[in-house]
Amino acid sequence: MYTLLPMKKLVVFTGAGVSAESGIKTFRDSGGLWEEYDIMDVATPEAWHRQPEVVLEFYNARRKQVLESEPNQGHRIIAELESHFDVDVITQNIDDLHERAGSTRAMHLHGEIRKSKSSINPNLIYPISGDKIAWGETCELGSQLRPHVVWFGEEVPMMPPAERLVNEANIFIIVGTSLNVYPAALLVFHVRKDCKIYLVDPGDPIIPSQLNITWIKEKAGEGMRMVRDEIIKV
Ligand code: APR
Repeated sequence: MYTLLPMKKLVVFTGAGVSAESGIKTFRDSGGLWEEYDIMDVATPEAWHRQPEVVLEFYNARRKQVLESEPNQGHRIIAELESHFDVDVITQNIDDLHERAGSTRAMHLHGEIRKSKSSINPNLIYPISGDKIAWGETCELGSQLRPHVVWFGEEVPMMPPAERLVNEANIFIIVGTSLNVYPAALLVFHVRKDCKIYLVDPGDPIIPSQLNITWIKEKAGEGMRMVRDEIIKV
């Protein structure tokens, strides 16, 4: 007699570290992006008002790098886990490497670099065909297009649905994030009591001490291989 059982719910929460092995710089590691650029100059609404062309150029460079990059083993293992679990990815990354690795549900908390947005109506979002948003390129209402990313000081509209997903998880895996940026870093507190939590990061993330987290101090590719081998045999 066989019983039909639902697949376990797996939620994977990723940050810049999952794309590091694809050659995309993280933000806060030594040599990271925020050493080279000042957040206030490129990633805030004030920067956009003061020097929109500099902001566009910064994100055009990020987009070009994403287009030149490929998903790595970490992204691929996360995608392959869909054969064993009901998987949702929640990423802070603006790249599309989870999707290109085959993940079918990837929620972007901080936006998507390959999309543009009207600067007067945030609901008008467009795919970008090449690697640039040009100064003078406008939405259908005639306002300058901006990158579809969440800047410091802006709302994070995807937080409530992300919190709901985390609350459904049987297994929650955090990969490659310093857990420095809020509200995203608070997501882990939405897990249920019986949820198993893994963290894959070779560095020194801020790990909440009040939660029982299994830390695998490895890069995303190797660390995800180890987590996969453990969770698929359970
Ligand atoms: N594999 C896994 N993790 C790695 C790797 C790797 N190969 N290399 C570095 N890391 C880890 C670092 O140890 C660090 O903990 O990735 C993390 C990167 O942290 P941050 O640079 O702070 O990136 P992230 O946490 O994603 O930043 C959050 O900040 O600037 C904003 O909006 C931006 O979404 C971003 C947010």
